[in-house]
Formats: sequence, C-alpha cells, structure tokens
Amino acid sequence: MIEHTEKLDGKVTTQGAKNSALPILTATLLCDGVCTINNCPELSDVSATLDILEGSLGAKVSKEKNTATIDASGATGYKISKAMMSKMRSSILFLGAIAARFGRAELCFPGGCELGPRPINWHLEALSKMGLQVVCRDGVLTCEADGGRLHGAKINLPLPSVGATENVILAATLARGTTVLNNAAREPEICDLCEFLSKCGAQINGAGQSQVEIIGVDSLRGAWHDVMPDRIVAATFMVAAAAVGGEVLVEKVAPAHLRSMVEVLRRSGCAVNVNEKSVRIVSEGLTQALGRIVTEPYPGFPTDAQALFMVLAALSRGETTFVENIFENRYKYAEELMKMGADIEISDKTAIVRGVKSLRGGEVFAKDLRGAAALTIAGLVANGQTVVNGLEHLDRGYEDFERKLRDLGANIRRI
Ligand code: EPU
Repeated sequence: MIEHTEKLDGKVTTQGAKNSALPILTATLLCDGVCTINNCPELSDVSATLDILEGSLGAKVSKEKNTATIDASGATGYKISKAMMSKMRSSILFLGAIAARFGRAELCFPGGCELGPRPINWHLEALSKMGLQVVCRDGVLTCEADGGRLHGAKINLPLPSVGATENVILAATLARGTTVLNNAAREPEICDLCEFLSKCGAQINGAGQSQVEIIGVDSLRGAWHDVMPDRIVAATFMVAAAAVGGEVLVEKVAPAHLRSMVEVLRRSGCAVNVNEKSVRIVSEGLTQALGRIVTEPYPGFPTDAQALFMVLAALSRGETTFVENIFENRYKYAEELMKMGADIEISDKTAIVRGVKSLRGGEVFAKDLRGAAALTIAGLVANGQTVVNGLEHLDRGYEDFERKLRDLGANIRRI
C-alpha cells in the first residue's frame, strides 16, 4: 500500500548485485574448497540458487545475512528438476557449470521474468561446440560431454548475450584447452564473475571486452569474494528521488557502471553529483522530458532500467521516446502505468511517452521484476493510494525495498 509522498530525503545503501551474485554462486560448483561470498543480497533468486546447490547438487551451503558459504568439493549431483529450474532464468547457468564439473548434466528449460521469448539456443550451440551432446526430450535436456570432459573452442555469439557469455565462461574454466569467445557481453557483472573465478585459479583474459580467452585448468580452489554493488537498484533509488523530489544520497555504488543512466537523469534537469562511491540526487520533482532512450548492451543504456525511467518520463514536461532493443516484450508494466493516467503509446519496440501533470493511485499488477519497482515509484508520486500486486517479482531482485524507501520518507507498507 503506497500513499502519495511529498519528498524523499536522506541516505540509502544499495545491495550486492543480483545479476552478479547468481552466476558467482553458480560458479562455486566448480571449486574444490570453501567459497565465501559476501555482499550477497537476500533475495528469492539467491535462495533458489543456494537450494539448487545444496538440494539438487549436494554442495554444503550456509547463509548468514549477506554472506553465503559454499563447499561443493563433495558435490555429486548433476540433475536439476523442472520445479527448481523454472524458478528463475539464471538457473540455465548451471548447465555450463555442471557440464564442466561432471562431464554430464540433466536439467530443463529455465523460468524467469516474462519479457517475451527467452530462448537458450546460443547457450546450447556454444556448449555443443565445446563437445557437449544435448538431447532434448519432453522438455528435459540430457547432456554428455564427448570423452567425459568439455574441450576449448572458438565461439562467436550472434549478439552479446549476458547469460550465454557467462555459461561459456563457466564451462570453459575447467575444459581441456583454450576457448576464445567473440562478441561476448561486456556487462560489469561478467567482470565480477571473472574476478571471482580468477581468485579461484581460473585463467581468463579480456573480461569486460568483446573477446574473452579462457585457458582451461584441471581444478579450481575455493575463494572469498565481495559481490559488486547493484547498478539497477542504485538507479531505482536515483529515479525515485528524481521523480518524487527531494535530496537522496545513494551509497555503496560503483559510479562508473551508472554513466548512461546518470546522463539521462541530468537531461531531466535534476542535479546529480557523482562521488567516488556514492551519488547524490537533488530534484524538485518536476523534470524535463528525457529525449530518446535506446536500450543497448553495456555500456549502453540498460534494458533493466527502462521501466524505471518511464515513470520519470510519464511525469515530465514534454515527450520522451523509448526504444527497447534487447527484449521483445518489455512494456507490459506500461499498461498499468496507463491505468494510473500515464500517456504512453506503444508500437513494437518503441514507446512514446507524453508527460502528464499527475498520476492517480489505484490497484496495479506487476508482471516482472523491474516493472514491480517502477509501479512502486509511480505509486509514490501518484495522488491517493496505490496497491501494487505481484510483489513476488519484486522480491526476486530487491532487498528490503519498502524499508529503505520508508527510511527516506516514503509512505509505503506491505499488506
Ligand atoms: N537470446 C537469444 N538466445 C539465447 C540467449 C539470448 O535469442 O540463447 C536473446 C534474448 O531472448 C534477449 C537477448 O538475447 O532478447 C538478450 O538476452 P541475454 O541473454 O543478454 O539476457 P539474460 O542473460 O537472459 C540477463 C539479466 C537480465 C538482463 C539481461 C540483459 C541475469 C540473471 N539476467 O538476462 O536481467 O535484462 O541480461 O542485460 O543476469 C533483471 O535483472 O531484471 C533481468 C531481466
């Protein structure tokens, strides 16, 4: 339940990045030894990943607040049930990790937010180049590595897919020989995964660049790692401050990862001061239109921030155009914003948003993670009361969201 909020003021700390924690936790399966992962956010996707490691694969797992400890040295499981796989998209990363560790794997297609079709063909094609034979029957993928161990290969991705890049890196670390991955995704979360794997003894060159070389090793040791800050959660609080108005310091961020979003926020007319590990937003609440926002692979504007910025555009002075280039169907939440009075016209990849003076509260339904955060921000600026349904999506990616907003002065509570 959200009530109109006049302003947000104070400090807020981000969390560890979900999209970094999930592949890193998956990577612990590759290690013979204890891994300690700090700054690991408390999210349902993180719990699901730990459940797979422990329940399906036989790793020893413990979690205390934001630290997860995993010892997969005695793990022998190589199967993941449909029920576990369908909980999130990133479960597909276990394919590369399990195949690398055991030379065989049995799992199903992954679940996750519905953002249009989300195939895994590039993951499967890349792994088959590394010697993985995959048979798909009744939705079950039964996989065997030729000769019991994956081998290095030259792989060219059609587009820089984040998940396919991570799957290849995970698979290649323990493969025989060298893998060269071209057109790799360059997201900071991939660098974080590679940094962790390197601490474990993996040999990876070019992380964060379009060409990554992975020289396979025979084993990896355990290591500790601090998960990098979540850039989309940082953007969420930045946009909330910009849209509601007030002065908010977002702490524990990596400003270099926020550049494309800071640039758009500056276009909106609010003041953005970027410090070494924090960003301060000062906003009057009423902003200028945002121009043209085109989602692209990193370092371009992230698709995960598109919904958040649409709320800002919906209340700004003038017209903003969004072009969604990554996912086919990532405007579902916009229909809910329209119910609240937003003026949005969607045609295929493009959404044209004409700013209105106010939004009205009401009952809305979140259908995906970032849409849930966007509708929450819309509830703060809307007149009257807003009820956002579908918080199970929010809980997949935001830790303590309502409390953090409440600490900034938001009128929000979970019912
Ligand atoms: N694609 C294919 N075939 C493949 C793989 C991808 O056609 O085999 C397509 C997808 O359908 C999509 C595009 O390529 O249209 C990009 O997908 P990508 O593989 O890069 O995305 P992902 O790995 O499934 C991750 C994040 C998403 C984020 C995207 C893009 C995780 C767990 N998820 O997804 O995060 O939007 O990269 O940056 O890291 C979120 O956090 O809300 C979220 C959805």
